[in-house]
Amino acid sequence: MKAAVHTRYGPPGVVRIAEVERPTPAVNEVLVKVHATTVNRTDCGFRAAHPWIVRFFSGLARPKATILGCEFAGEIEAVGHDVTAFEIGERVFGFSEDRFGAHAEYLTMPRDGPIATIPPELSFEEAAPSTEGSHYALSAITRARIRAGRRVLVNGGTGAIGSAAIQLLKELGAVVTAVADTEHLELVRGLGADRVIDRTVEDFTRDDRTYDVVLDAVGKSSFARCRRLLEPRGIYLSADLGPVSQNPFLALVTPLLRGKKVMFPVPKHDQEMVQHLKGLIEAGSFKPVIDRRFRLDEIADAYRYVETGQKIGNVVIMVDQDGG
Ligand SMILES: NC(=O)c1ccc[n+]([C@@H]2O[C@H](COP(=O)([O-])OP(=O)(O)OC[C@H]3O[C@@H](n4cnc5c(N)ncnc54)[C@H](OP(=O)(O)O)[C@@H]3O)[C@@H](O)[C@H]2O)c1
Repeated sequence: MKAAVHTRYGPPGVVRIAEVERPTPAVNEVLVKVHATTVNRTDCGFRAAHPWIVRFFSGLARPKATILGCEFAGEIEAVGHDVTAFEIGERVFGFSEDRFGAHAEYLTMPRDGPIATIPPELSFEEAAPSTEGSHYALSAITRARIRAGRRVLVNGGTGAIGSAAIQLLKELGAVVTAVADTEHLELVRGLGADRVIDRTVEDFTRDDRTYDVVLDAVGKSSFARCRRLLEPRGIYLSADLGPVSQNPFLALVTPLLRGKKVMFPVPKHDQEMVQHLKGLIEAGSFKPVIDRRFRLDEIADAYRYVETGQKIGNVVIMVDQDGG
């Protein structure tokens, strides 16, 4: 089968298209023929081993997973002997961050892993980008116990995490202020934001309102700068470690002080998570935002684009050019 392979850490050019052996499903696994996948910030982090801490998961000297790709949408091609939950020909989507492998024509998934059938009205292209940014957003929202009426500011409302976060927050009934570039203000309004701040005109950390939660979905701020925006027991969440990797440390220390605090949740990815997102898609509460599409043999260009830090929502890779 055709796959995007990298055997050392480095820039997008380390990824090449190669013929590799098609995986065989174990007794408790399914084989998925991949129609669409994505290049996202998780793939970029694992390809470049950036930040350095990634190497503890991805392999200290060289990558353990030589085929990246954590989001996928495709069809069940074969099932292991013990699999009854999925049938050959079913359309499925999911998240394979534990072993990656979606930047290829086929991947295997455990039957009880983060995989679910695709809602009938959704194409492979729309289903593929449903899990990466959204699972970070979901983990943050769940951990902070955000509920109806809570005032939440989302910085980076147009990224994969931010665009999912706005939709998931609105579904819960939160009151959302989103920060975005001038040309993306309509997009974030369309996702449900009640109020918008144009980051090219205004520094959101100088806003005169206060919030129960500040979610920095692009990790461009810090707790120190956002502290003044928070209610006395407000919560700061960030998608990044912070400029000096301070956020995990602050998440341990600030809760002891009983005031404003930092949370740095470890995202959960299991079948329940994918089923939950599927339910939101079916209810019309969540629709992943898609920016550009690339073919599998253009994947290095897709990485370069994602690494500009300016993508809108998600970048999809059409593995077989069949988006339906
Ligand atoms: N290492 C990992 O494994 C990993 C995995 C996932 C995510 N992350 C981190 O999570 C963060 C978000 O990921 P993502 O995929 O959601 O991001 P993304 O999609 O790449 O975010 C892009 C968006 O960020 C906004 N943006 C760019 N510069 C900004 C700035 N200075 N201030 C505010 N917004 C800005 C832009 O929107 P506007 O121009 O409209 O503002 C752009 O649409 C990233 O920092 C990433 O490093 C890390």
